[in-house]
Amino acid sequence: MKGWSHSGMGRTRLASGENAAAYDRLVHVPVVLQVAATPNSPALVLRPWCMEDVAALVEVCRDPALRHRTSSPVENDADGARWVQAQQRGWATGDRFGFAVLEEQPGPAGAQLVGNVVLKDVTSGKPAAEVGYWTAAHARGKGVAPRALEALTGWAFDTFAADGLKRLGLLHQVDNPASCRVAQKSRYDFDRVLPAAPPSFPRDGHLHIRRTDA
Ligand SMILES: CC(C)(COP(=O)(O)OP(=O)(O)OC[C@H]1O[C@@H](n2cnc3c(N)ncnc32)[C@H](O)[C@@H]1OP(=O)(O)O)[C@@H](O)C(=O)NCCC(=O)NCCS
Repeated sequence: MKGWSHSGMGRTRLASGENAAAYDRLVHVPVVLQVAATPNSPALVLRPWCMEDVAALVEVCRDPALRHRTSSPVENDADGARWVQAQQRGWATGDRFGFAVLEEQPGPAGAQLVGNVVLKDVTSGKPAAEVGYWTAAHARGKGVAPRALEALTGWAFDTFAADGLKRLGLLHQVDNPASCRVAQKSRYDFDRVLPAAPPSFPRDGHLHIRRTDA
């Protein structure tokens, strides 16, 4: 989202020993997370963004509600390619892990892009990082964001707890009740109101937090 960063972390300090090996695996072995189907929704697959996603990404980003909430507008293929490359750099540097969320479709259509979840501001040895997400307009209201966020959260704690990660923050503006619902449904407890910081951030925000033991 456009907004605050509660963690204020810079680039990842490279981990050492076993942790360095774990970070190295993240760069070289693509992480794929599976989310089981529900009675009302197909299964989801989360995997790192790739250049083949650009056309679908550009299509999804035509949605004004999504543009309103994202800081890097994607209006054409060149923007889309830059955005995907930024996600790929995040995996390479080990401080930002963005996943395309795909919905399994029956038949030859294959999987369809329905969203994005991201773990960001990851720094070796630091206890806090942050999550973000969006869902394509055509897929909203079916629990895509909370289901994908649950998978991301489990993966984040499984992967980085040994390196000191203890809590994840989720921020949204006060005029985004849908995002507040995602936080509640995903057991990110409301922590506090963050004051507006105009002109960039005209509205107050909510900080929600989920801890490893939640
Ligand atoms: C916020 C957002 C990620 C929710 O994703 P989602 O996959 O639709 O999540 P859910 O299906 O759990 O719906 C969450 C809430 O959205 C609202 N909602 C339901 N159907 C909706 C629809 N068709 N369109 C928009 N919002 C809808 C409801 O309030 C719902 O809460 P409820 O389940 O208690 O009724 C999505 O609306 C979105 O991407 N918005 C634009 C970008 C954004 O705000 N990102 C978050 C920035 S912090």
